[in-house]
Amino acid sequence: MAEIVIVPDRAAAGALVAEQIAKLVTERPDAVLGLATGSTPLPVYEALRERLADVDVSRVRGFALDEYVGIDPAHPESYASVIRREVVEPLGLSPELIRTPPAHDEDLAGAGARYEAEIAAAGGIDLQILGIGTDGHIGFNEPGSSFASRTRIKTLTEQTREDNARFFDSIDDVPRHCLTQGLGTIHDARHLVLLAFGEGKAEALAGAVEGPVTASLPGSAIQLHPHVTVVVDEAAASQLRFADYYRHAYANKPEWQTI
Ligand code: GLP
Repeated sequence: MAEIVIVPDRAAAGALVAEQIAKLVTERPDAVLGLATGSTPLPVYEALRERLADVDVSRVRGFALDEYVGIDPAHPESYASVIRREVVEPLGLSPELIRTPPAHDEDLAGAGARYEAEIAAAGGIDLQILGIGTDGHIGFNEPGSSFASRTRIKTLTEQTREDNARFFDSIDDVPRHCLTQGLGTIHDARHLVLLAFGEGKAEALAGAVEGPVTASLPGSAIQLHPHVTVVVDEAAASQLRFADYYRHAYANKPEWQTI
């Protein structure tokens, strides 16, 4: 099962995951990171600024989980812009080694397959950062997504558009489509690290971690993966049935084990 780590706040989550990423990059300077957007991973990227300051990151490679279709790549809320602003520039990564799904290509029908080929050519993703939507999506795999799905175009649910409207001037500006890694793509990453904060994520998180494995709650796909770490604050953990056990297991974890 996934390891569930309940931390006091976002900063503690950021520090924990940044430590793991720094270890990975130190051991493997050309590590391949799976990068998430949205507000959830921001504490990780913030913690990484300090944690990676003395680490050579020039060869680190990265693949974003998803991208909106239908907004200019130069738009400040395109995920290409977000990744550049929140990750590439502050961490000093090499821009040419960090990719976002090519949702702006003329040949959109073939864009998913091209992105899959790029990930495969890089040798696959070592550590994939994930958030979770209030409707249970990971990446932009909305309810009903196949567990075997690869990078492809998806239609966003209205709930997701409303959730993401805070990043735009109005909900009318939120795109209706995206190009997202599939659940099968995410499953191929060697280590999944899912973060969730706040009461608003509690129901989706409990479904993903403890509910039945179902395409109706795409986050539940993490239960099929052999190496998953879930890092959450108390509010997001508030609907977990076995929270006390997760705390007990983490408190008694052998020192030599990492997440
Ligand atoms: C976004 C992203 C997801 C993210 C999720 C939660 O729209 N496509 O990758 O994990 O929805 O967003 P947030 O972290 O802002 O709550």
